[in-house]
Amino acid sequence: MSILVQSPTDNERWVDEFRRLLPDHDVECWPDVAVPAAVEYLVMWRHDPSDMARYTNLRAILSLGAGVEQFLDTDLPDVPIVRLADPAMADEMAVYAVSWVTHFQRHHDVYLADQAKTIWKELPYTPAAEYTIGILGHGTIGRCVGQAFAGLGYPIAAWSRTGGDEPGIEHYVGSEQIGAFLAACDAVINVLPNTPDTAGLMNSDRFASMQPHAVFVNIGRGSTVVEDDLAAALYAGRPAAAVLDVTSIEPLPPESPLWKHPNIRITPHSSGPTRLGTAARLIAANIDRLDRGEQPFPILDRSNGY
Ligand code: OXD
Repeated sequence: MSILVQSPTDNERWVDEFRRLLPDHDVECWPDVAVPAAVEYLVMWRHDPSDMARYTNLRAILSLGAGVEQFLDTDLPDVPIVRLADPAMADEMAVYAVSWVTHFQRHHDVYLADQAKTIWKELPYTPAAEYTIGILGHGTIGRCVGQAFAGLGYPIAAWSRTGGDEPGIEHYVGSEQIGAFLAACDAVINVLPNTPDTAGLMNSDRFASMQPHAVFVNIGRGSTVVEDDLAAALYAGRPAAAVLDVTSIEPLPPESPLWKHPNIRITPHSSGPTRLGTAARLIAANIDRLDRGEQPFPILDRSNGY
């Protein structure tokens, strides 16, 4: 029986790492599959579903990335899909969010422009204790991002479908409370996955609920944002700025007006890359669990899309 690995980048390095971590398994490097019926585990990001039909003894699919939308709308084999929930990735996403929020909160954008004009002018700013960070999507990654800000003294508000009760966090639940949530925040970090419920959630009405000085940072999925509405809202002055690490089409096409919007900063889906050093160990541990007949985790719940 074998493990088949198909990584979009550095496939051979991943294969070598799984061979090292799981010496009792045959690890195969896509597309070289000696015996399709021997493939028990498929480690992948995106894979042609029709090809998977050849793996008649497949026991589980293990994802190489945090997002799972590619596992929802295709005709995949009916086996558990194990998500990648790497705390190191969540930490890196938190650092990304902190760096961009502080960039605007502490006026680094203005200082950059001032430097070009040799202007030395200190600007007042709202201190962390009075600057509320909103986490849109309070799952594993959202919590980690919130904790990073909380550790620096920022008050945290969280919006989710089901709510929560962690102390020290202002929780908002469901569509009735999203407007109040957005209005309460100085910066909103979107960490929501791509599901039918989140598609187009951030539209012109929602941006109109934000404060004029607020910053919107998207490290979740581009599909959550109606991009034309965001561009128009920024031109209308509410919110003040947006940072998009994810967009509805990736890579963002050169002709997209988002590139040239004066109040938008674009980065290339770089907030939290999958790291072989930590992710391969988590995936290997889940394969060990499956071998022992235990439940791997976290398993994708296909009914809610995450
Ligand atoms: C993602 C990832 O899902 O980069 O966005 O892992």
